[in-house]
Amino acid sequence: MKVTVAGTGYVGLVTGVCLAEIGHHVICIDVDEAKIKMLQEAKSPIYEPGLEEMLSKNIKKGNIFFTTSPEYAYSNCEIIIIAVGTPEKPDGSANLTYIEAVSRKIAENIQQDSIVVIKSTVPVGTNDWINNLIQTNLQNRHFVEVVSNPEFLREGSAISDTFNGDRIVIGSSSKYSGDIVEAMYTSFNRPILRTNIRSSEMIKYASNAFLATKISFINEIANICEKLGANIEDVSTGIGLDKRIGKQFLQAGIGYGGSCFPKDTKALVQLAGNVEHEFELLESVIKVNNHQPLLLIQKAKEIVGQLEGKKVAVLGLAFKPNTDDIRESASVVIVNQLIENGAIVYVYDPIAISNVKKTIGESVKYCSTIDEAIGDAELTFIGTEWSEIKKYPVINYKRLMKTPMIFDGRNCYDLDEMKNHGLVYVSIGREAIL
Ligand code: UDX
Repeated sequence: MKVTVAGTGYVGLVTGVCLAEIGHHVICIDVDEAKIKMLQEAKSPIYEPGLEEMLSKNIKKGNIFFTTSPEYAYSNCEIIIIAVGTPEKPDGSANLTYIEAVSRKIAENIQQDSIVVIKSTVPVGTNDWINNLIQTNLQNRHFVEVVSNPEFLREGSAISDTFNGDRIVIGSSSKYSGDIVEAMYTSFNRPILRTNIRSSEMIKYASNAFLATKISFINEIANICEKLGANIEDVSTGIGLDKRIGKQFLQAGIGYGGSCFPKDTKALVQLAGNVEHEFELLESVIKVNNHQPLLLIQKAKEIVGQLEGKKVAVLGLAFKPNTDDIRESASVVIVNQLIENGAIVYVYDPIAISNVKKTIGESVKYCSTIDEAIGDAELTFIGTEWSEIKKYPVINYKRLMKTPMIFDGRNCYDLDEMKNHGLVYVSIGREAIL
């Protein structure tokens, strides 16, 4: 099939490359010329395991092309997938400016019957709005129908999620348009759920809100465990063994970040508010998450007093391992808090440093190894559970730090083992070793 993908961010690029991999003829369009040039040279603008190899292979096979030209991208395709960003507006609602601009370009340039698939996360009702917008602005008399097809891939495992994800959701207003989108995905061989458009839009928000709720729930339980002498790792395992609960997304820590959960939870609260429903549960989930990174700083202050003038290392800055993405990263919240408290901050991350430089600038010292970051430090905070950090020899903290005190926001180390090292080790939902 001939497929055009609008937007070469995480979702758009991974989708385009994976559709090319299963044999579709794919054109990816973006307004960012520098990004398109990189992609034409088979370089991925994002770090995602396996992506660059698959990109390069499909460019060579002639299955995927990159352009900034709407005339070229939209004039000769059966399916157009919109995967542009829907960032957060100051009031928490989704900003639909980019999706509107793309929809207008599509309407102006379509030269054949096409199905427009909305993959971007959009508030319930947006697909209908886009459908109207396109129909009103169509320059030629072609059949166009909008289909909702939310994306559930995770950064860091985006390719494997695209091929092996739990489900594909297709929300359409006619069987005909839904069937075309289903045909595009046949080779993925994944379970497909067909719904109406609004249910499909809601599935995306409800999924992310539910997962965020699981995380805030386990973080609250962890905070209580600390006070009652229980161990969150055992509690998570114990409750996760109940299949009705499930063991995933029960890892306590300094909270969720990334480009989806923080944005989508706020957008759903806003969406509910629009229909005069106060989503109190989700409001609390957000509140708990905002507070969670601050608790670790608070614990450090209770132990060492003021942080002013102290050399503090922060290991791991990405919002989770295997990505260079620092959007809404809880670890970056900790870095900013440390700066605000007057600490001298040394940071290390295997791949996210250049993104941190763009946002935090020169207010911290950037290190290229863990050893360098923790050398002479009085405190170390762990913000991301990179395997390099988990495997790092604990003995080195004692050897290299001025005073070996670790505040582990991701429970990277075994508690019993830490007891043998004679250092201060404070983690989440577990007994503090003082
Ligand atoms: C998420 C959804 O999982 C995905 O389906 C959707 O398409 C986009 O949003 P992503 O943002 O890539 O994906 O990351 P995810 O792996 O879900 O983790 C999100 C955040 O939750 C991370 O900051 C992670 O550290 C945190 N998390 C996750 C926990 O704190 N505990 C857990 O048990 C799981």
